[in-house]
Amino acid sequence: MTQSLAVVTGAGSGIGAAIATELGRRGYHVVATDIDPAAAQVTARDIARAEALALDVTDPAACDALVARVVDDHGRLDVWVSNAGISKMQRFVDVAPADLARTFEVNTYGVFYGGQSAARAMIALGTAGRIINTASMAAKQGRVPFLADYVASKFAVLGLTQAMAFELAPHGIRVNSVCPGFVATPMQSRELAWEAALRGTDAETVQRMWIADTPLARLQTPEDVAKVVAFLASEDAEFITGESISVNGGAFMD
Ligand SMILES: NC(=O)c1ccc[n+]([C@@H]2O[C@H](COP(=O)([O-])OP(=O)(O)OC[C@H]3O[C@@H](n4cnc5c(N)ncnc54)[C@H](O)[C@@H]3O)[C@@H](O)[C@H]2O)c1
Repeated sequence: MTQSLAVVTGAGSGIGAAIATELGRRGYHVVATDIDPAAAQVTARDIARAEALALDVTDPAACDALVARVVDDHGRLDVWVSNAGISKMQRFVDVAPADLARTFEVNTYGVFYGGQSAARAMIALGTAGRIINTASMAAKQGRVPFLADYVASKFAVLGLTQAMAFELAPHGIRVNSVCPGFVATPMQSRELAWEAALRGTDAETVQRMWIADTPLARLQTPEDVAKVVAFLASEDAEFITGESISVNGGAFMD
């Protein structure tokens, strides 16, 4: 048996990489997964006890197979972080059905499938596990430009988090979400360029608007989010379930 084990999806970049690193720092054996296994490998390389595995969260059989492998290899699964997500900025009237479907496949179905695989294993192992979903500030308010499909997919994550928390509570499994704001990651760099083009301005202007929208007056770091995920995974959060914690410097208060 190894020490507590955490699986992180979308761990090859940005927030997922920071979550994997923070959990590693706090003593977890980390399984860093990503649709891009080379990127997950880079994350795992800098964590004391970690491994990297390929996982496309849109494939439920792959989620089951990954969990089975982790349980076979280590005999445990304590924490599952559904973090993988995608975005593509465009006007609501321009979102094609294929884009809408892909956004939901990754951002919503991916959270559903990964959560199912993890929960089945935690129940079978009798583990009081923790499942944490990376939602978004855009999961709590739709007043977000050019991200209608993303907003819809992330609102769904909050409802799913509550439904999972309710059903899994009798097994001692806690389920929560984090809702980041404007986090400096590769996803944000893409969004800066898209929003600048859609507004007919430049990326620096958009970035200034985002910071001006944030009372704590800076862009968020992936580590800001990772620390809250680590808290939700810890015993300090032992009576928190079904919650969706904003980590956004005050950019949206609810
Ligand atoms: N950056 C922000 O401002 C921000 C704000 C709120 C919420 N979020 C959410 O945080 C999460 C991480 O975002 P990020 O900014 O780090 O993005 P990112 O693009 O930097 O990283 C996302 C990672 O997910 C992986 N991924 C994409 N599709 C996948 C799939 N089908 N299966 C497995 N992995 C897949 C990518 O390869 C990448 O490594 C996402 O869920 C995103 O929606 C980000």
